[in-house]
Formats: sequence, C-alpha cells, structure tokens
Amino acid sequence: MTEAQLKDLLTQMTTEEKVGQLLQLATPFFKGASDRGEITGPMENMNINEEDIKHTGSVLGASGARETINIQKTHLEENRLGIPLLFMSDIIHGFKTIFPVPLAIGCSWDIELAEKSAAVAAKEAAASGVHVTFAPMVDLSRDPRWGRVMESTGEDPHLNSQFARAFVRGFQGDLDNDAHKVASCVKHFAAYGAPEGGRDYNTVDMSEWMLRENYLPAYKAALEEGCEMVMTAFNILNGIPATGNESLMRGILREEWGFDGVLISDWGAVKELIPHGVAEDQKQAAELALKAGVDIEMMTSCYTNHVQELIEEGSLEESTLDEGVLRILQLKNKLGLFDNPHRFASEEDEKKYILSPEHRRASRELAAKSIVLLKNEDVLPLNAEKKVALVGPFASNTDILGPWSWGGSAEDTVTVETGLNQQLKDLAVAKGTDLRDGNEEDLKAALQTAEQADVVVVALGEHSDWSGEAGCLADIRLPEVQLDLLKKMKQLGKPVVAVLFNGRPLDLREVTEHADAVVEAWYPGTEGGNAVADILLGKVNPSAKLSMSMPYSVGQVPVYYNSYSTGRPKDAPDAQERYVSQYLDIPNEPLFPFGYGLSYSQFEYGELQLSADRMTKEDTLTVTVDVTNVSDIPGEEVVQLYVRDNVGQVVRPTKELKDFRKVALQPGHTETVTFQITEPQLRYYHANMEHTSDPGEFTVFVGTNSQDVKAKRFRLE
Ligand code: GLC
Repeated sequence: MTEAQLKDLLTQMTTEEKVGQLLQLATPFFKGASDRGEITGPMENMNINEEDIKHTGSVLGASGARETINIQKTHLEENRLGIPLLFMSDIIHGFKTIFPVPLAIGCSWDIELAEKSAAVAAKEAAASGVHVTFAPMVDLSRDPRWGRVMESTGEDPHLNSQFARAFVRGFQGDLDNDAHKVASCVKHFAAYGAPEGGRDYNTVDMSEWMLRENYLPAYKAALEEGCEMVMTAFNILNGIPATGNESLMRGILREEWGFDGVLISDWGAVKELIPHGVAEDQKQAAELALKAGVDIEMMTSCYTNHVQELIEEGSLEESTLDEGVLRILQLKNKLGLFDNPHRFASEEDEKKYILSPEHRRASRELAAKSIVLLKNEDVLPLNAEKKVALVGPFASNTDILGPWSWGGSAEDTVTVETGLNQQLKDLAVAKGTDLRDGNEEDLKAALQTAEQADVVVVALGEHSDWSGEAGCLADIRLPEVQLDLLKKMKQLGKPVVAVLFNGRPLDLREVTEHADAVVEAWYPGTEGGNAVADILLGKVNPSAKLSMSMPYSVGQVPVYYNSYSTGRPKDAPDAQERYVSQYLDIPNEPLFPFGYGLSYSQFEYGELQLSADRMTKEDTLTVTVDVTNVSDIPGEEVVQLYVRDNVGQVVRPTKELKDFRKVALQPGHTETVTFQITEPQLRYYHANMEHTSDPGEFTVFVGTNSQDVKAKRFRLE
C-alpha cells in the first residue's frame, strides 16, 4: 500500500476499529488459536468482548506456521476492513535453536557471531509466522541481584551499543528486501537495568547526566541501526513511570531522537500506572500513556475501554489516536502484511530451517566463544585419554538454555554428559546433589565415582528460574550443598574443574578457592554440552572476556569498571590508611573485572606507541601495540582500548571502553594491533547536557582486561 492508501484506510476506520489497533492480546483470546502460546505475564479479567477481539491489532506469544496462519485467516474473516494482525514474540536468543543467553554472548565480544545468532533466530521465527521480536534487550546492567542481567550484554555502554546494532541487523536486516527477517523492538526504555536493590520493577532514580552517559546509548544505537519498535520499561524514571513519561517518550525518544516507529507498552504497564500511583483509574492511565506516545497497550484494556470516551469528552485529540494507529498500519505495510498476511509462515520452511545442522553449528560456535575461563592451574585442557568423573547437578541437566528460550526444548538440548561422552574415552557420571538439596547416598556415589578418576569435573549452577524476569536474588553465592560437593571433591586430592551454569555474575570466592580451574558457561543454549566439551578438551581455545564484573561479594554491588575516582581514591599515591573510599572487610575490586578472561595460550603485550602526544579535533591519533602469543597453542585475544579524560567539567570514569579487537595469533606470532582515536570518542555530557569534548590531558590504556593494561598520556588541543 502507498502512504496515501494507508491514510485513506485510516479515514474508513471507526473510532472503535482504530482503538482496536492499539490493543495487543495473548494467543488464548483468538479463535484460530489451538494452544495458549507463550504467556509471559499476569493474565487477568480484561473486560473485553468479541467485537474488541475482532478489532485487535496484534497478537502476543503466538508462533508456528499453521497456528499463525489459522489465527490470521480466522481474524481476517471477521475484521471488517481486512486489517491483518501483527504477530509479536520474545525471540531473544534463539527460536528453537537456542543460543547462549545475551550476557554470555556479551562475553564473546564477537559482534559478527552475535549478528549471525539473531539472523538464525529470525529465520526460524519468520518461517513460524512471527513478524516482530521483542529484542534486543539493551538495558545496561550493573547489579547481578537483578534477574534480567542474563538478558543484557552487560555493564558497558559502548559494548552494549555494538551488540544492539548487531542484533538489530541480524533480526531485521533490510525488511524491504531480505527474506526471513523479523522487525526488532528494542527494550526496555529506559534504564530498566538500574532498579534499587536489584529488585525487578523497583524504583529507578538517576541524574539525566548518568542516564545519558551510560543508560541511553545502546537504545539510541539500536534505533540508529533502524530498529522498528521500542518497548516501554516497567520502572519509574525520576518519579514518573516510563510508560506515562511524556518527557522521556515524546521528549527524548520521538522529538530529540526522531523516532517515529511503534512504541509498545510492556505487559500490563499501562494499567500499572494505577498501582504506581500516577493514575486514579484505567481512564486516566489510558490518557497518560497515549499522551506519552505509547501506541500499543500490551495485555490490558485501558485504551479499549476509555479512549473513545476521552475523545468524546475532549480530553484527548482524535489526532493523537490517529498518529498511533497510522504508525501501526505503516509497520504492517512495511512487513508486507496487506499483500501477504501470512508473510514467511511455511510448514515446509519450518522443517527445513528449524534446528538444522547449520543452525546447531552456529549455536555451538557462539557458545564456545561465550564461555569464560576464569581460572586454570594447569588442569585444562583435559587429556581425552584420561579417566574423567563428571559430577554435580548440571552433569546431565538440560536446564542450560536459560530464561527467554522461546521454543527451546530439553529433548533438543545437548547436556554436558552427552557432550563429554562424545569426546572422551572414559567418563563416569554421578549427580552428587540436587541444586539446593542433597543426600548422603548421592554424595557417596559421587565420591566413589570421583575416586576412580584422574580428574573431576564439577558442574554447578542456578536453576534457570532463579534469574530472568522477576528472578532476583539477594544472595548471589551458589547453594551450600553445591559448594560442599565441590569442597569434598577437592579433598580427594585430584585436579578439580568447576563448570558453572548461571544467569548472573555470582560470588565465586569459594568456587575459585576449591577448584583448580573455573569455567563460566552461563546458559550456553541448545548445543551447550558440546560447547563445554569443546572448551574442556581444548578443541576450542577459550577467548571470552567478562562483559559484566564478577563481584567479590554482593556487598560490593553495584560494582563496575567504568566507575569514578572519588575525592579519596584508595589507590592514590598519598592515600591515607583510614580515610579513603574503601570497605574495612573486603577489597574495592571485583573478584574478576570487566574484560577478564583467560586463554590456553599466553599473550604478551609490548609497549603502547602513540602517533603523537597531542591531537587537534581534526586529527586522528593512532595507537599501536604488539601482542605476541608466547605459547605453543593457537589462540584468540580480545585486545581492549580504554580512555580516561583526566580532567572534565563533570567527573569522568577512570576508564571507558572505546574500542576492541579480537586477534587470532599462532604460536610465536606477533600482531601489531592498531586503534584510531578521534575527537568524537572523547565527547561526554556536560552539566548542561551538551555532548562535547574539552581540550586537556587524556590517558589511553590497552590491555587484556580493564585492570591489566598499559597506559600512555596525550593531549587534545
Ligand atoms: C514481559 C517482559 C518483556 C516481554 C513482554 C512480552 O513482561 O518484561 O520483556 O517482551 O512481557 O512477553
């Protein structure tokens, strides 16, 4: 349809039909549905009728070619103007071929493979009739108590922005020309990752300076990459719930950034303006959200039941309703739904693409590149000829897909046991304990199994319900029974390798104390067992680096690398004994810092070379460093470039990631790694919110993680 035809269609619509386009309902409401689809929020009495359902604009949580074709066909038989439904679902890190959780993908620092993972997810989802995915989630996360850190790519605005762009490219590509793509929807706007206490949905309160410097960049990057939709966040931001926050939505998102796409509420977030205490009733909630520019109300019916009345009484302009409806019609048109309402839905293509060997290979490759080697005292890689005992609650556990794993299933998942069995001659397995409860019999069996082995692999972790939405924990250590199993294995006097399956950074002090090697596998997805085996046997040399700090203890939280010096930094040359910024009982530094990850290779960094010790705003400063693989094992190293603005108008982080390079190095080989620094990379938000740079002294750092770096100074003229 042309723009004129869309606008003509809008004029033919009754107010009721227009309001219907603003409603999104979950699958069970639709006649053509044969199952409940994915229910991802509270279901309650919506007070809607058959007519409302006929006018509905979009479906939440449906998938399957046959299912979506049936729902669409039934709907179009009843929708007076033949306006097709949009099918939207949470395809976050895979459709049925599940990839590692985004936090793990963040640790891969592999932008290309991240994009590929989204393209695979889009292909499977599009063949199953999905039109829009509620991804990428780009909420910057500094608090591992929050369950949804697993859904983010971590604590750094630059790295998160790179991944946001990659996911949008992978999911969405060029919708006008590329087949098997889905529209992406960046979420949750804004700053959902900063709830007080790490408790989901809790209060978010921060300065505009902190919001713009750290929390907004990744949403903006997704939109610059062409992301079609935005989803509102549940939380308040500086006193006003995001979903009714006009200055955030119309001010920043639409006017300042020029976003004119569809803005959807999160599940029930329009009606939640009432418990938030900014709306007296559903009518006021509808008015606030629509005036804030929220086009689609997900799974509540404030708009359905009150917009017409608000217009008739003059509280709401019909033009406000029309602009939202037109954006939804434009998105349907862009997806080609007026020409082909079933788009790429095809049972034949489902059989061809879903869980194909190619897709499994892609998942296995990215999983191996997302697994972080945290400790290795000459235990890894394992010798395939050795007798290995695999113990722990994750030894044969299929719960390694993580939250938001859409159509992923246990029968499709490769466990650690299966993965190791395929690569080892002699593997014995014993659970040893459940996740939170153990018994003497299981423990005894595990000890007996381990006593026969040369090396013990202990697979520990969190149930996937312990993270994800509303999955928050105040205690981020592993359960005692699991730590106890590890200690008892270590007491046998054999090499012990701990492999972790978890959705958040944990307090790993006891794990690192009682294991000779520690491998952080996060939730590695459908091919997780094979990827873990590839790493443990050295088929893949680990190259992942933490994209979120691993705290020393929960008492440090929030702990992040790009923090500020304070007026009494503990590491100042003239630091006093007592009166400095410190804890009396623990260090300031995390157990493992942002950017940290070991390899089976050893890399040595030469001295930093700068093309000059000063630059003008027009110049490019070239930074070079030689990196040598001094081991006899080929490997990949993520070389990281950080910058510090030594004096700013507002305080500046002690380090900020500005660039990185993943280099593959053969044994004995030296690579001269080059970075370019330009003036735009040195800009920051001043007190007046201008985003500019200042002349002055800077420090550039290059290294293998955010702490272990080489430094040189330069001046911006
Ligand atoms: C959930 C989540 C959101 C998801 C939506 C639809 O509450 O917060 O991320 O996209 O509902 O499932």
